[in-house]
Amino acid sequence: MINKKHEPKAVFAAMVLGLSTAGQAAASPDLFDEKIDSLLGIMTLQEKVGQLNLLNATAPELMADKVRDGSTGSVLNYVNPDEVNMLQRIAVEESRLGIPLLVGRDVIHGFHTILPIPLGQAASWNMELIEEGARNAAVEASACGVRWTFSPMVDISRDPRWGRVAESAGEDPLLTERVGLAMIRGYQTDNLADPTALAACAKHFAGYGFAEAGKDYSTTWLPPSLMTDVVLPPFEAAAKAGVASFMTSFNDINGVPATGNRRLLHDVLREQWAYDGMVVSDWDAINELIAHGVAADKRDAALLAAKAGVDMDMEGHCYSASLPALVESGIVAESLVDSLVRNVLRLKFRLGLFDNPYTDTSCGKKSYARPHLDLAGKLAAESVVLLKNDGMLPLRRDIKRIAVVGPMADAPHDQCGTWVLDLEKEHSVTPLRALREAFGRDNVVFAPGLAHTRDKSGDGIPAAVAAAEGADAVLCFVGEEAVMSGEGHSMADLDFKGAQSRLIAALAATGKPLALVVMAGRPLTIEKEAAAANAVLYSFHPGTMGGPALAKILTGRTNPSGKLPITIARKTGQYPMYYYAKNTGRPPEWTMELDSIPLEAVQSSTGCSSYYLDCGYRPLYPFGYGLSYTTFDISKPELSSDSIRPGEVLTVGCTVTNTGDVEGAEVVQLYIRDPVASMAQPVKILKDFKKINLAPGESRRVEFKLSSEQLAFSDIDGKLVVEPGEFYVWVSASSECDKTPATFRLTD
Ligand code: GLC
Repeated sequence: MINKKHEPKAVFAAMVLGLSTAGQAAASPDLFDEKIDSLLGIMTLQEKVGQLNLLNATAPELMADKVRDGSTGSVLNYVNPDEVNMLQRIAVEESRLGIPLLVGRDVIHGFHTILPIPLGQAASWNMELIEEGARNAAVEASACGVRWTFSPMVDISRDPRWGRVAESAGEDPLLTERVGLAMIRGYQTDNLADPTALAACAKHFAGYGFAEAGKDYSTTWLPPSLMTDVVLPPFEAAAKAGVASFMTSFNDINGVPATGNRRLLHDVLREQWAYDGMVVSDWDAINELIAHGVAADKRDAALLAAKAGVDMDMEGHCYSASLPALVESGIVAESLVDSLVRNVLRLKFRLGLFDNPYTDTSCGKKSYARPHLDLAGKLAAESVVLLKNDGMLPLRRDIKRIAVVGPMADAPHDQCGTWVLDLEKEHSVTPLRALREAFGRDNVVFAPGLAHTRDKSGDGIPAAVAAAEGADAVLCFVGEEAVMSGEGHSMADLDFKGAQSRLIAALAATGKPLALVVMAGRPLTIEKEAAAANAVLYSFHPGTMGGPALAKILTGRTNPSGKLPITIARKTGQYPMYYYAKNTGRPPEWTMELDSIPLEAVQSSTGCSSYYLDCGYRPLYPFGYGLSYTTFDISKPELSSDSIRPGEVLTVGCTVTNTGDVEGAEVVQLYIRDPVASMAQPVKILKDFKKINLAPGESRRVEFKLSSEQLAFSDIDGKLVVEPGEFYVWVSASSECDKTPATFRLTD
């Protein structure tokens, strides 16, 4: 009998594996592989398959047996440290081999202290704050027993009808990559065995954000060049940065579901990128191969996923039900199962779980620490985008009485957005509360107007109008409830829901200065309402400290610096819409407004170019756009040379000046265009950015390094190529680069 009576299993496993009890954190990866092979050598097939089984939390007493007999090696959604420790003790001290449990949770934008949704964090363009936010989330979550988070989501999305755009960093691959890496650094630190470290998870691999028509879980068509140029780069960067795990996506890619896609999970991830982390399916996604129509039953699904390279089955019960029989019948080699188990065990070793399986029971004691709340407020403030301002903001100091209206003014749950499993809304500080603190309760009249954002009644609009008429300024908080974005929450129409638009029109009709504050999980089509307002702030669900952040911006204590991570279109029908679009053969030089088209107009009289008769071709607000309470000037870029050879680096410099009278931050963005290439190229592509703070009147030189490798694009087969020729360069404050670009050549 292998198991030694009364031997604490962790020490037993350590002895068997020759592991020092000094902890493996310092150990090199190959040491783990030797130990893993030793462990594999004494595991039964059932125990191996158990390590591939990830189950959702149930009553601990129901989970206990599955842990004790080794049929479950990982769990998700336990956040009570006593329950986690009870199950962990069973795993480590009562199971035959004492292999510790891996405990996962969706810690997507904060744990107890809720940060802005990832789309909002991306709008800050501040990677240091994003990293610090992830670090704080890891400290709070690990104190409750979580050591693995299913974050960052590095899916690209160009279509906000897809509700999960809320969890993304928007439409751009570079910004998405930078945000994802910042979160990975924050979660994992440089020592995954640190008890406050969370194993991160790059998801959803891959292409999930290209769901057809923005409808969640829908099919995706992703040609090789789109995969190489847009979809894969953030995932490759995460893999190269050492993200601990990957999660497969629900969608099929050109007919092959990601969860059964060997070309993706083996050829790209393991062969090309040499990734040695762990791959987990999304929830029940192995089982869903049956619904996709590529597996006849659970057995087929298990076979397809295992051969594709999915290491762990999240709540699909396919591996546990079918893999042992597949091995015993010779259809699957046990060595294949071993290869999957190896990746799981390696993650557990890297997390230090064999040495420190138990969580300290400080759960909650680290949550809402002042530094966590302050960081959340700072990140929320930097995530707010000022889209329009006729001078109304910041509110004048002589303003005494303000009307706070709208269904999102006092919505502590909904301001935190989607994926807030551990939200304690009593900790949320709403805009109403913060503004009452700023102006004095008696100087703030509150009238929500609507009971919630879907309220169609409008019964409360008269009271809101009355509040506005008695005030010096009107602040109207509108947008979306949290449940209207996130997983499974696609929308076919991005206009305001309920009677919000009617409320805004009624407030505008009072003639009082009106500032709109939109709190949503996605871009909404706000053209009509923005036109009626004096000022518009966009705040992608800002989290626990959203209220103070917005109050500081409205009163001018903070100068807004957010920039859009995703295009805001004029109409839903314009999506998918994104700044790095191709020029097409017929870029519109002019457009004809629908109502100006004469009756019986000659067919071609409206021009035959790429635009909509009912809304032209431009967005309402473009990617990278955001205003400030000050103004900035960015000089024309100066290039270190008018040509570079392959392998050389071009320096692109410019001078940025704060030409206004208050301090502010500008996000200086570097875009290029390859006007003539063997494949049509986007009209511009973001290649770098820097966020800098400048005092009034201050000038600073900003330099970017542009390597020839950054000029690469993929050919029709998805292979990266670098072609000589002329390139355009802009340095700009948004993707709308109206200035004449600088040019340089890449020579042979
Ligand atoms: C969900 C999501 C995924 C999440 C997982 C665990 O369905 O697609 O992002 O991490 O299940 O909750």
